Amino acid sequence: MTIIRPKLSIDGLIAELQTLGRISEAEPPVVTRVVFSDADLRARAFVKTLCLNAGLMVTEDAIGNTFARWEGTEPTLAPIGTGSHIDAIPNAGLYDGCVGVLGGLEAIRTLKQLGFTPRRSIELVIFTAEEPTRFGIGCLGSRMMANSLTPAQARTLLDREGRGLDELRASAGFKGSLESVALEQGRFDGFVELHIEQGPLLEQEGFDIGLVTHIAAPASLRILVEGEGGHAGARLMPGRKDALAAAAELILALEKAAKSTGAIDTVATAGVCEVFPGAVNSIPSRVRLETDIRDIEGVRRDSVIAALHEACKEVQERRGVTITSELVNADPPATCDGTILAALEDSAKASGKSYKKMVSRAYHDSLFMSRIAPVAMLFIPCRGGVSHRPDEYASPEWIGAGVHVLARALALLAS
Ligand code: GLV
Ligand code: MN
Ligand code: MN
Repeated sequence: MTIIRPKLSIDGLIAELQTLGRISEAEPPVVTRVVFSDADLRARAFVKTLCLNAGLMVTEDAIGNTFARWEGTEPTLAPIGTGSHIDAIPNAGLYDGCVGVLGGLEAIRTLKQLGFTPRRSIELVIFTAEEPTRFGIGCLGSRMMANSLTPAQARTLLDREGRGLDELRASAGFKGSLESVALEQGRFDGFVELHIEQGPLLEQEGFDIGLVTHIAAPASLRILVEGEGGHAGARLMPGRKDALAAAAELILALEKAAKSTGAIDTVATAGVCEVFPGAVNSIPSRVRLETDIRDIEGVRRDSVIAALHEACKEVQERRGVTITSELVNADPPATCDGTILAALEDSAKASGKSYKKMVSRAYHDSLFMSRIAPVAMLFIPCRGGVSHRPDEYASPEWIGAGVHVLARALALLAS
């Protein structure tokens, strides 16, 4: 292995990130790019063109997971993967996911320019729908690659307009059988994902790089509260079955349950609350909540889910409403691979970048890739720990350091 000092084109990479950020369903600087929307399809086309211009071979699977391959000198060996996602939640910023995709591409272009020849192929992967916005479940593409969501389960997924995954992927141009999406163990020799931290620690503590050793376990529950609607003036308070008042109790019970584990790693959020009919002078008759519960320990996370179920029973009885819940997902945590972490650590040292080992509290496609391949992640700082907001920001220096460390690690792993 001769490649030690990648020379990156950071200005070019930042310009590409900005161009990608302007491909949005919302007015820039707000980035909204929901899977299979027109913006998602235009963003995919932009990234695919960059991959083709870099001389990579681009293929797509039946749900749009995209693989851009740099063939190694021993093409029958399982490749090293890198990549992330380019879909973005409503009201997001430029960097979540996109740094791992365009930064991964920049790492490959840099190695190519330097004349490095990989023994193993290197594949950039652009995962479909890491964000749960459309189908209510995160990491759709990588989840299906790992067969953690079966084709039969995938066929039941609907968006809020009632449109199914099968219909939407077909109209986005992704054909072929869902059965072909799952990958066999060993399809990748290893996988490395570059991502912004989405938390404040690296910036606060002055580190260039985070080496992710574990990824926290996410879960999500959908809750439907059905009460009784009516006139907000004429219907008196006694005997009301206000679905939103009941849902409010559930949201507070969820917050209390997460706080009461006493562990800083337990977090819970009710991020969606749809109220029907949603009129100021009408008692809410129906509320749909979507909740997100995470911990680095699956058992402790599950204790919060259990407490939420208890609260549902108690509120239902006391308020005379009907509460049903559906566990959308409860995924185990992931442990990152020692060999890939060692390659990243070597690379950080050789590049003169300071680093810290840390846990990822956000989920990532690597959580699912870890089920079919050895995986590790590297984080770069983001300003103020801000993410999932339009003011998300990572400086060119931070991005450059991440791409530099990634490039060198890819070269090590592919040699
Ligand atoms: C990923 O976007 C997450 O919510 O952790
Ligand atoms: Mn995200
Ligand atoms: Mn992300």
